[in-house]
Amino acid sequence: MKEQAWAEKTVDAIEKKLYKVAGRSRGIIPYTTDDGRFDDTSKSSICWWTNGFFGGMMWQMYHYTGKELYMELAIDIEEKLDENLMLPWGMDHDSGFKWLPTAVAHCKIDLNEKSFNRGILAAENLAGRFNPNGSFIRAWNDSGDGTRAGTAIIDCMMNLPLLYWASDVTHDPRFSQVATRHADMAQKYFIRENGSAIHIGIFDPNTGEFLRSDGGQGYGVGSSWTRGQAWALYGFTLSALYTGQEKYSDTARKVADNFILQMSKWDKMGIPIDFDQPHDCKREDSSAAAIAACGLIELGRLDEKYLEAALRLLEFLVENRLSLDEDKDYLLSNCADSFWSNREQMTLIYADYFLIEALLKLTGKDLPVFTPERKDK
Ligand code: GLY
Repeated sequence: MKEQAWAEKTVDAIEKKLYKVAGRSRGIIPYTTDDGRFDDTSKSSICWWTNGFFGGMMWQMYHYTGKELYMELAIDIEEKLDENLMLPWGMDHDSGFKWLPTAVAHCKIDLNEKSFNRGILAAENLAGRFNPNGSFIRAWNDSGDGTRAGTAIIDCMMNLPLLYWASDVTHDPRFSQVATRHADMAQKYFIRENGSAIHIGIFDPNTGEFLRSDGGQGYGVGSSWTRGQAWALYGFTLSALYTGQEKYSDTARKVADNFILQMSKWDKMGIPIDFDQPHDCKREDSSAAAIAACGLIELGRLDEKYLEAALRLLEFLVENRLSLDEDKDYLLSNCADSFWSNREQMTLIYADYFLIEALLKLTGKDLPVFTPERKDK
């Protein structure tokens, strides 16, 4: 396949750079870069939601090359995250993002008791956040006044694979029952008729009544924050892959169809931060493009048109936003943490992670971190 050869060549070029980057990044957990060099959240924000992604990149690269350096860095990050696991107020809805690419990835490479325990503890905590009145996994933690007790966010669809994994390895359906209840809730309240997704949903945490949506990191209430669209696209695809339920693949297709339609309205640039941002605003979010590409590749196994869209996104990123400069720690430029961020454009570690995951999916040599093991492999 043409795209397989292209992806392999691109991953090899990335790996050559990453080996140097890894060599100078021992002991840190990066989130973004300043002047091209990684920051380090390991001391300042050990509970930050992105702390699993650099470890995940290291596991992907270890799996691809067998080079020990990558495993050394991945294990160090997994161990550092134990501090988070022991802090109840630092545990939140993002346990999937933190422990799937670290402890669970480690188990998939080398099943060991410590990593297994970390994964199960994280899954139990995540399942414990489920509110049966409203059927949602609660987002974030208390800010001191209880006003966040009824919040759920679309991003959380990406954390459900931790629960599916836990059910699988413990032979206990409770975890996946929580996951599918949350997915059903998201399908009902988060996906609009046109296939776009809201970012934040607010419930009455006592009665379970859905109260309203909120714009969150997007342009505003009623808009389509592109990373949220990407979380929905890949997230529903993952629920479909784990459960085999058509209602989830139908929802993923609906979100993907809208994503592809909206993409076509933003010529000669990457994915905007929000599909509804003013058209003269040219700020992009490469992370949304990389995440959407992962979901589209998986959906592409059902229907070729999704693979074509994924390739369009990846080719744009590789040709225009990828840095192979070995002095720069990041891979992708032109990311945005939020439309309202005070940083116009920045680099984000999860953009780099999902770029690698997407390219490796095309080579057929990805480590299944968010996805279940593929039977055809
Ligand atoms: N999970 C938060 C974000 O996507 O920025």
